[in-house]
Amino acid sequence: MIIKHEDVTLRAVEESDMELLREMINNPEIENMVAGSSFPVSSFAQRKWFENLLNNKNELRLIIDTDTYGSIGTITLTKIDWKNRNSQLNIKITNKKDLYGKGYGSKATKALIKYAFEQLNMQCIYSHILEYNIASQRLHEKIGFKKEGILRERVYKNSKYHNLIVWSILKGELNE
Ligand SMILES: CC(C)(COP(=O)(O)OP(=O)(O)OC[C@H]1O[C@@H](n2cnc3c(N)ncnc32)[C@H](O)[C@@H]1OP(=O)(O)O)[C@@H](O)C(=O)NCCC(=O)NCCS
Repeated sequence: MIIKHEDVTLRAVEESDMELLREMINNPEIENMVAGSSFPVSSFAQRKWFENLLNNKNELRLIIDTDTYGSIGTITLTKIDWKNRNSQLNIKITNKKDLYGKGYGSKATKALIKYAFEQLNMQCIYSHILEYNIASQRLHEKIGFKKEGILRERVYKNSKYHNLIVWSILKGELNE
């Protein structure tokens, strides 16, 4: 199965992706824009995490490959609820190669949402986005997500609590 949108392909995580993943998880600028908190990750912990990937049936973790720049990031569905057909979306693109604003985030998200609706029969995909993460909210709005509400002061970062905005998209709402 190939998951593709224009010049972007989503593929399974390989052992050779560990450096890219570890670089992104330990990168303070990226960490600052995502809701989950992360501890520094060692290469040992990264390897253990990789070994456990196969056992988790409620997560789909993919690498974002581009025709021009190779592997640039990761996009995942987590908390897959197979009964109620919903799941949480997460995306990270490396800030190392001056890649932001070139449309790769939108293309990767469209590819995964389409796959989630058409192949996994999901009904709803949602994201929790830090209120100050304007790029991510713009991306979600542009491809058809609707703003659902605010989780007030749900994330503590840099000595402050921040609101999380909940965005979701239902089957049939994707702007292709
Ligand atoms: C969020 C992220 C995935 C966006 O990826 P991207 O490849 O830059 O996205 P796109 O190029 O498809 O741009 C999507 C929209 O956001 C806008 N955008 C991008 N960067 C922006 C910025 N810094 N400020 C405001 N808008 C921005 C783009 O202009 C575009 O809107 P437009 O088509 O109306 O112009 C990327 O910035 C990233 O990985 N950031 C770090 C991790 C993160 O924030 N993850 C999301 C957590 S919820």
